[in-house]
Amino acid sequence: MGLTETIRAKARADRRRIVLPEGDEQRTIAAAEVIRAEGLAEPVLLTPAGIAADAERRGRYAAALYELRRAKGLTEEGAAKLVADPMYFGMMMVKEGEADGLVSGAVHSTGDMLRPALQIIKTAPGMKLVSSSFLMETGNAAVGEGGLLVYADCVVNPNPTAEELAHIAVATADTARRLCGVAEPRVAMLSFSTKGSAEHALVEKVREATHLAQGLRPDLLVDGELQLDAALVPAVASAKAPGSAVAGRANVLVFPDLQAGNICYKITQRLGGAACFAVLQGLAKPCNDLSRGCSVDDIVNTVAATAVQAQ
Ligand code: ACO
Repeated sequence: MGLTETIRAKARADRRRIVLPEGDEQRTIAAAEVIRAEGLAEPVLLTPAGIAADAERRGRYAAALYELRRAKGLTEEGAAKLVADPMYFGMMMVKEGEADGLVSGAVHSTGDMLRPALQIIKTAPGMKLVSSSFLMETGNAAVGEGGLLVYADCVVNPNPTAEELAHIAVATADTARRLCGVAEPRVAMLSFSTKGSAEHALVEKVREATHLAQGLRPDLLVDGELQLDAALVPAVASAKAPGSAVAGRANVLVFPDLQAGNICYKITQRLGGAACFAVLQGLAKPCNDLSRGCSVDDIVNTVAATAVQAQ
């Protein structure tokens, strides 16, 4: 079974309520029909008109949002205005436990969705920060987990510290295991250096992040610093990183910053022909972003993945 079929099957087994704030957008409406027909989740489509007619919930959510953000300078009037926006209304539904997760991004930019998610839903207990996993189906069974590679962070953190990078590595390994069914995540901490072949402050950050991740979770296979070829190609790994349990067989790739991660996922997709989609990790409740160029199928898959994260 391919990755998307695996995720859809898991979603179907324990149906969750997923809110779609872009409820008057055509691809979203079409996706909701597929989601309902296939029993993947219970989609809730929001529209400004629907929200305008729901004074009870608007009032309740505005009061809760005001309490949540008053210390940050939000006024009661400001909160009332924000919850008229489907994105904020949807976030408050999730926050208040009236939906299990949220998917948007067919219309809104990543930042438009990330900011309210970070401010309202916040990180899960014990999680240091929110980041993302990009699930890349390369179609090349010789790499990763039968062709599947999980990339991070390609969406959220522009320039993570070594400590943040270590937390991203751990969260991504957990996403690979829980969402994708990867039994043994093997995490490569990527750099332009392999095991001391180059010296630079940027390399040192990756080396430090590797040690921190290994300390955080001794049960995980994490190694670095590794170049991409050393991470994926057994012959290169045996020359550059002999004895590594990860090199040559990595299935999770952690990039040193957002420029590297975002550029590499797009190269894999656009030049390598990989099918891909992203999920956020570390939030207290799952909220996920779409690309504005998304297809109906992309929305269906992201809703299914969100439902699985909510289980
Ligand atoms: N994890 C947890 N909380 C966070 C994180 C994080 N990674 N980043 C910010 N926050 C919290 C802050 O603590 C703050 O909380 P508070 O208001 O309760 O104190 C809140 O989020 C807002 O933080 P700011 O720093 O004020 O927010 P900022 O304006 O910097 O926005 C954002 C944060 C949106 C994540 C920003 O870092 C960003 O724009 N990242 C890049 C997004 C992007 O454009 N990605 C590439 C395109 S996506 C694609 O190609 C698929």
